[in-house]
Amino acid sequence: MDLVKHEHDVLVVGAGGSGLRASMGLSQSDLSVACISKVFPTRSHTVAAQGGISGALGNMGEDDWRWHMYDTVKGSDWLGDQDSIEYMCKNAVESIIELEHYGVPFSRTEEGKIYQRPFGGMTTEYGKGIAQRTCAAADRTGHAILHTLYTQSLKNDVDFYIEYFVIDLLFEDGKCVGVLAWCLEDGKIHLFQSHMVILATGGYGRAYLSSTSAHTCTGDGNAMVLRANLPLQDMEFIQFHPTGIYGAGCLITEGARGEGGYLTNSEGERFMPKYAPNAKDLASRDVVSRAIQMEVNAGRGVGLEKDHAHLHLEHLGPETINERLPGIAETAQIFAGVDVNKEPIPIIPTVHYNMGGTPTNYNTEVLSSDNTVIPGLMAVGEGACVSVHGANRLGSNSLLDLIVFGRSAADRAIEVLKDKPESHPNISRSSIDKILSRFDAIKNANGDINPYEIRDKMQRAMQKYAPVYRDQQTMDKGIEIMKGLFDDFSNIKLTDSSMIWNTDLAETLELNNLLYQSLATLYSASARTESRGSHARDDYPERDDDNWLKHSLVSVNDKGEASYDYKDVELKTLTDEMETVELKARTY
Ligand code: FUM
Repeated sequence: MDLVKHEHDVLVVGAGGSGLRASMGLSQSDLSVACISKVFPTRSHTVAAQGGISGALGNMGEDDWRWHMYDTVKGSDWLGDQDSIEYMCKNAVESIIELEHYGVPFSRTEEGKIYQRPFGGMTTEYGKGIAQRTCAAADRTGHAILHTLYTQSLKNDVDFYIEYFVIDLLFEDGKCVGVLAWCLEDGKIHLFQSHMVILATGGYGRAYLSSTSAHTCTGDGNAMVLRANLPLQDMEFIQFHPTGIYGAGCLITEGARGEGGYLTNSEGERFMPKYAPNAKDLASRDVVSRAIQMEVNAGRGVGLEKDHAHLHLEHLGPETINERLPGIAETAQIFAGVDVNKEPIPIIPTVHYNMGGTPTNYNTEVLSSDNTVIPGLMAVGEGACVSVHGANRLGSNSLLDLIVFGRSAADRAIEVLKDKPESHPNISRSSIDKILSRFDAIKNANGDINPYEIRDKMQRAMQKYAPVYRDQQTMDKGIEIMKGLFDDFSNIKLTDSSMIWNTDLAETLELNNLLYQSLATLYSASARTESRGSHARDDYPERDDDNWLKHSLVSVNDKGEASYDYKDVELKTLTDEMETVELKARTY
């Protein structure tokens, strides 16, 4: 097969918030930067982020990045690395002001400052008050940020390769030297050589049946990392957003509760004060999701099946809804048939975010099991585990993570490539052939099983065997089923073996990526015998710091078998401007 060849200093794979922020930063240097994306950039999943981006700007009351850091460490159930968290919270204000200057149309206060709303787990004075820290563009903040970053990237002449599906990473002598990608439009295989690859490929929410993630969220970069014999970190921590629309799974922003919305059960009771007496409906997401599940388990769910809860916005009035939550009103009408001015929205905890992913340091360099930097490879965004979210992410810290670490990746790559080699190394034919033979085997697969059957079974299995509440028996059953599906993949049949816009092939490659990550999630979850953050076990209900204050590292080989490693949580802060947040019981 003839390869179309390209050479760039840096390749950014993925054009969501973190990929575009990194690309844009790099384009302001004299490095040549290419951004490769399987979807048109403004269709990346960042576009769906609603409620906002956190940062201690203090526009709506006193605030301090140290309070933000405290909340983030506590939210993470102490599994977050405190050097990275300090880096993120301290750099938040500058990064957001920068976005404002790039043109993000934030909502405004009366005085013309960026509007900030309360969000779950965000407090003032180390837990005493409720902070207004989440900067919002109504309830379409991700949309506003993504479009601004894309136009800035175009202005700065980033080379975009749009609708290219990256198949795998290329390594020579332990260094990442580029990628192989399939162009959906011309049907050719493209060889991209680079001195640095930055993975910005997002999460793998589509491993589940009910998810707020886009259909394209298949964590392709994480699977490439596994196939490169590198581990993924903290994969057991899957965030369920408390308010997905019942039945449809679409996101109803936490901003709705930030503006005053509240939850009730079938008795019309506001139940959150029972579970979180201070923060109530604005407790962290893992706490609110579990509370809803407990109400359902106690027979107080709403609806015919008594299996969900209600979110009330009727009391906010049309003015607030039109100004602050217009997208939510529309989504609720379309997907639940509900007029939010008159009736509550039926909601249920829905898979929303992956705290785990490709391990990195706060400079976004990818790390091996022994914590050494993998040359030529960086990762940012939801696919990365820089470990600012630990075992549970606070709402609105995700957009912040994208922007702060997208910026950090650009800065670090520029620094590392000050002494870049004069030319790109020769890439051995065997490295290329290995990747192409896997691609061809999938494209020409002529077995007995329809890949969509496997996808459906995988999503149902993840929903059932890696849910909000887990136990050993459930997860071990999940591993057995998932391992069977992983094996079944070698017996699939594709009906279309063409190369041009073969969506069947693209979705089957995505399925293979999801199977790797589903297994990684189940393996890590079954091994962690404690409850922490989003990993809630019925059989081990307590956090166990003596044995489990550590990150999980899991590798999955091409037979679907796991190997495990662990590493310490970084409890030391980056500077002496903030002390380590001491371990405590976590109450809201
Ligand atoms: O609820 C939301 O608007 C989601 C925000 C987030 O996940 O950060």
